[in-house]
Amino acid sequence: MPRDARSFGGRYRAAGLPRRVLRVVFLGPPGVGKGTQASRLATERGIPHLSTGDLLRATVAAGTPLGREAEGYMRAGQLVPDDLVLRILAGRFAEPDARAGFLLDGFPRNLAQASRLETMTALDAVLSFDLPAEVLVARLSGRRVCPVCHSVYHITDHPPKVAGRCDRDGVELVQRPDDRPEAIATRLAVYAEQTAPLLDYYRARGLLRPIAADGSPDEVAARVRAALPPP
Ligand code: AP5
Repeated sequence: MPRDARSFGGRYRAAGLPRRVLRVVFLGPPGVGKGTQASRLATERGIPHLSTGDLLRATVAAGTPLGREAEGYMRAGQLVPDDLVLRILAGRFAEPDARAGFLLDGFPRNLAQASRLETMTALDAVLSFDLPAEVLVARLSGRRVCPVCHSVYHITDHPPKVAGRCDRDGVELVQRPDDRPEAIATRLAVYAEQTAPLLDYYRARGLLRPIAADGSPDEVAARVRAALPPP
């Protein structure tokens, strides 16, 4: 591991680049609120929110051969094969805006992906979110999304102003296919088996910052800010 991965922005300070470069991973089980927090932080810090789930869903919607291959795995709640995810992520990673930092949401998801990421970039921090399983299930089963602008709602915790309609564009909200009960159970099991070992991996590298994910989105956002260096 590069030495500078242990300190915030070490490599960038050494190169005389601005301090605000931030390379962060959000780690945590399905439904813990990673996407909700990542989208806020990315806006606040002006860095791209790189969500492999969103990138994969866009590929599925585009109907490309890659998308057709990914769709079955996603619908069942299984991980998409590493080489496919890496091909999609590498393209996005190479875009100019990712040079000013990035927020990776949903990647890495297993040890093979983590070691591959280590060859691609240093990291400043890995924020790990957690909640009891019953709260995760309640958040996932109540989630509704806008199929057009991808805004995320919850039927009780974050309802739209007009029931079933997106606040931004009025489009009818939908449930993600992997938010059905069978797929939720698979996703939680896959997380425990394949992704949770990354907590030790990043703890050993001095990068792990645990964040309590209970409370309102504003309360969680305040904890996220406190765990990161100021802009
Ligand atoms: P992905 O899209 O990454 O899904 P996930 O990790 O399962 O996470 P979620 O999007 O379900 O939850 P979240 O933590 O972002 O929660 P959210 O903020 O939406 O991946 C989907 C699939 O793609 C995977 O299963 C896999 O097949 C594939 N994939 C993706 N990356 C891959 C990779 N690297 N390798 C292989 N395969 C990959 O919040 C959830 C709900 O809770 C919302 O309704 C929200 O409004 C609500 N909420 C949020 N915060 C709060 C709060 N503080 N209080 C109350 N409610 C809240």
